[in-house]
Amino acid sequence: MKVIVPPLKSQGIKTKLVPWIKAILPETNGRWIEPFLGTGVVALNMGFKNAILNDTNPHIIQLYLDIKEDRITPEIVKRYLEVEGENLRQADEDGYVHFRAIKDRFNKEFSSLDFIFLSRAGFNGMMRFNKQGKWNIPFCKKPNRFAQSYITKIVNQVIQAKRQINKDWVFLNKQFSEVIPLATKDDIVYCDPPYFGRYVDYYNGWTEMDEELLYQQLKETDAKFILSTWHHNDYRENESIKKYWEEFNIITRDHFYHSGGKIENRNTIVEALVCNFDFNGNIKEHNHEPEKKYVQTSIFELEPVVLVD
Ligand SMILES: C[S@@+](CC[C@H](N)C(=O)[O-])C[C@H]1O[C@@H](n2cnc3c(N)ncnc32)[C@H](O)[C@@H]1O
Repeated sequence: MKVIVPPLKSQGIKTKLVPWIKAILPETNGRWIEPFLGTGVVALNMGFKNAILNDTNPHIIQLYLDIKEDRITPEIVKRYLEVEGENLRQADEDGYVHFRAIKDRFNKEFSSLDFIFLSRAGFNGMMRFNKQGKWNIPFCKKPNRFAQSYITKIVNQVIQAKRQINKDWVFLNKQFSEVIPLATKDDIVYCDPPYFGRYVDYYNGWTEMDEELLYQQLKETDAKFILSTWHHNDYRENESIKKYWEEFNIITRDHFYHSGGKIENRNTIVEALVCNFDFNGNIKEHNHEPEKKYVQTSIFELEPVVLVD
């Protein structure tokens, strides 16, 4: 399958899980409900006509509303990135002066265009906000970050996102606990909450009480749910699995990652999908591979885009 990649980046992005989630998706005429939207990559690839998409991070929701309501168009993004990319190239301290200027402007005005800039020019594509809710990721130190090919790539991601966003999609900026109760029998609720005890920032605090409330709400929902979480790594188990999630269906898969550059520093984390429904068809409990590997949509496969200067 071809995976649509959103214009935002984040360390928690689930691009690689998209085919896996799609493979277990039950057929339904209901809505896609995603209380922890993040970059939006999962919602953009599920093909639902109706959706409720929520995040406590207002900048994510604002960006998608701006795209949906044409306040941000591919043309506007292209022009903005060309101008700010050139300013970055010309700026002192190998671009850092301009990165700081955009960061300061974003932290006052919170514009979606500056949000895209920071997401794409920040270190390692990370998204993090400090205790005051201000952008908190440093520059990737590439003054040439916004080369024409990179701008084209981002503009095409905006085009693709816009194509997927249906007029009936609803975007909310609430706590997950206000969103899950909106789900009814035919809906699918996909939850990808922050991991308990892991990385925390302004929008990603997660406590035992949150996990328990999530469990209660998912246990009681009439909808079908899918929860993304981790099962175990080389050192420990995710205690929440035993405590809350074991009563549901669970499928797992290995995910390898490197901490540091050396091959011997390869680590495994076993990721899990927890669901309250039985799988149709032949889903292997561990390392289920969708029949076709996924490919990210190449910019060359898109219809040509005519941008007026
Ligand atoms: C792990 S990320 C989701 C990543 C997403 N699946 C993706 O692929 O990009 C978790 C998201 O939940 C949001 N979040 C954290 N706590 C929340 C809460 N209590 N209610 C709703 N959203 C919350 C965060 O802002 C973050 O965007």
